[in-house]
Amino acid sequence: MACSRVPGMFNLRNLSSFPSIILPANYISVAKFSSLTTFKSYKNNINAKSCDILKPNVFDVSLEMNRKASNSTMNQAEVDKFAKMAGDWWNPDGVCKPLHSMNKVRVPFVRDRLVPGNNSAQPLKGLNILDVGCGGGILSEPLARLGANVTGVDACKENIEIAKFHSSKDILTKDTNFICSTIEEYAETSGIKFDAVVASEIIEHVDNPQLFITSMSSLLKDGGDLFITTLNRTTRSWLLAIVGAEYVAGMLPKGTHNWEKFLKPEEIEEMCEKAGLGTRMVSGMTYIPVVNKWMWIPDKSVNFALHASKYIN
Ligand SMILES: C[S@@+](CC[C@H](N)C(=O)[O-])C[C@H]1O[C@@H](n2cnc3c(N)ncnc32)[C@H](O)[C@@H]1O
Repeated sequence: MACSRVPGMFNLRNLSSFPSIILPANYISVAKFSSLTTFKSYKNNINAKSCDILKPNVFDVSLEMNRKASNSTMNQAEVDKFAKMAGDWWNPDGVCKPLHSMNKVRVPFVRDRLVPGNNSAQPLKGLNILDVGCGGGILSEPLARLGANVTGVDACKENIEIAKFHSSKDILTKDTNFICSTIEEYAETSGIKFDAVVASEIIEHVDNPQLFITSMSSLLKDGGDLFITTLNRTTRSWLLAIVGAEYVAGMLPKGTHNWEKFLKPEEIEEMCEKAGLGTRMVSGMTYIPVVNKWMWIPDKSVNFALHASKYIN
């Protein structure tokens, strides 16, 4: 196996020096603060003993308890949530505002891990990239603008329709191929091997994450790269990503995230190993709503990004 785990590969200095890519001006806007009303409704929820936001005891929640082995990665309730917000994907001040902003760190992350030091206008030219759980194409489009041949897959047909419509408006993104499918169905039928697979902010919404990672691995060429961004399962992530973002600040609709579905970096690494992928880097990320900015940080306890490569047999 040519690709082995590289100890100490994590290097925050490399990340913080990532150049930003140029993004449309509407990516930069000022976040709205939580109102007293949202705080009141949060308090009312607490008083009403709403069990929606009650956090299970972190020590009681093992991966096995959380994950009933399912033959599908699709959780219909999760996909239905995204169908409801399909009209908001491209609203820069809507619920996807943090995802638009995340492009400023995740796009350079993918680019610089795939083609380090290539500062040309289209550094990803010639690379086939699969965007799993592409939603409305917020990440697929900038990858296509950097020259990649992008295929976006999403289980929600409303999202795929939005992604097709929006990408068709720009000459650089109009050839993006959007397909409505779960990843495992796509893996069985596509017959294509990709240079890279990105799965950004999706693994925390799927059932059977091992099947999810194994399916993505099967779609990679030997030596191909997998990029994941997601939320950790910690007390801090419950406080910040669920209580803070959904109930106090009202940045995301209540119930967007189910804390029990979050995975720890070491759990994802183990699943990657089982799927023939060696983890090369894990880094923490943080979102600062007041300036609508993401930053790389060493702390992985809330948001993190992972890069793994498929072993060469
Ligand atoms: C939070 S959104 C992320 C969208 C996009 N990756 C981004 O970051 O801009 C998660 C997406 O995953 C999709 N999804 C959830 N479960 C899925 C599954 N099992 N297979 C494919 N897509 C799925 C949802 O429909 C939704 O569009």
